Amino acid sequence: MSISHGQIIVVGNEKGGSGKSTTAIHLIVGLLRAGHSVASVDLDGRQGSLTRFFVLRQRFADKQGLKLHLPEHETVPPLDDGEQVSASNVTTDLRELGGLLRQLSTRFDAVVVDTPGSDSQRSRLAHTMADTLITPLNDSFVDLDVLATIDPDSMTVERPSHYAETVWQQRKQRAHLGLKATDWIVMRNRLSSLDAVSKRDMARLLADLGKRYNFRLLPGFGERVIFRELFLRGLTIMDVDNETPGGAGLNMSHLAARQEVRNLVEAINLTQASLSHTSSDTPSTVTEARPAGSAAGVHAAP
Ligand SMILES: Nc1ncnc2c1ncn2[C@@H]1O[C@H](COP(=O)(O)OP(=O)(O)O)[C@@H](O)[C@H]1O
Ligand SMILES: [Mg+2]
Repeated sequence: MSISHGQIIVVGNEKGGSGKSTTAIHLIVGLLRAGHSVASVDLDGRQGSLTRFFVLRQRFADKQGLKLHLPEHETVPPLDDGEQVSASNVTTDLRELGGLLRQLSTRFDAVVVDTPGSDSQRSRLAHTMADTLITPLNDSFVDLDVLATIDPDSMTVERPSHYAETVWQQRKQRAHLGLKATDWIVMRNRLSSLDAVSKRDMARLLADLGKRYNFRLLPGFGERVIFRELFLRGLTIMDVDNETPGGAGLNMSHLAARQEVRNLVEAINLTQASLSHTSSDTPSTVTEARPAGSAAGVHAAP
């Protein structure tokens, strides 16, 4: 009999700057706000974007006397470049990482793992352990090559890319281990930059790739300047309401951005049953109540 555990959700794409950390941040806050308990793991310790976000979030909450939704966060420090990493060190390192993800998955509804934009044994292990894999993809043909080489004349798929092969290998390994198949979601990010014909080509190619490699396609996020602005305070579009700090209020683009995050959270499909081991597990390191009048427009955690 299998022991029920929380979902391990890995955000991966071998390209830097494709929106992995942005996706992870919004998914984590979205899941927390939906009442799920969440652990987060920053496997990209060198870049550390996810970790930085939660540091900023904690700082903002402390400064404003707010209680904000926070996951239990772990940063996996990068392996030291100068160090000769022996095979046994690597084995130990991978065993520890596997143990960490498994342990977190027994305590939380979701374990969201942000990965670096490069291939590594750690990243491969995380991909093998992924119940759900989310690959954000910048909405351009150049970025499509993370999935496949495209023939520019016929605009058809020539061959799978290194990353698609890696995902295929990790899925085979899961099958070998008797684990349920990874639900692979590819989501387009920073939509809107393409003209109508290119948009159609992109949609056709992605639909074709989805059938070949067995992934689901999600429309994803538009180009949202607000994501970057709020990052600096450790906030997401889900944390603010009509009195957005800055006073301008939420415009149509902000509301659309919020809906995009909701769509992502819904696509993950965490069952309501998994809400059972929630709130008491959810670590909220900020305990003070929100003083009246402070940080107008920011939704505090209950
Ligand atoms: N949908 C978006 N709208 C606006 N800016 C975005 C969007 N997605 C990502 N960015 C910005 O692009 C940069 C790279 O995104 P990031 O999530 O750090 O990528 P990765 O983790 O894949 O390297 C960041 O500055 C981020 O704020
Ligand atoms: Mg990143």
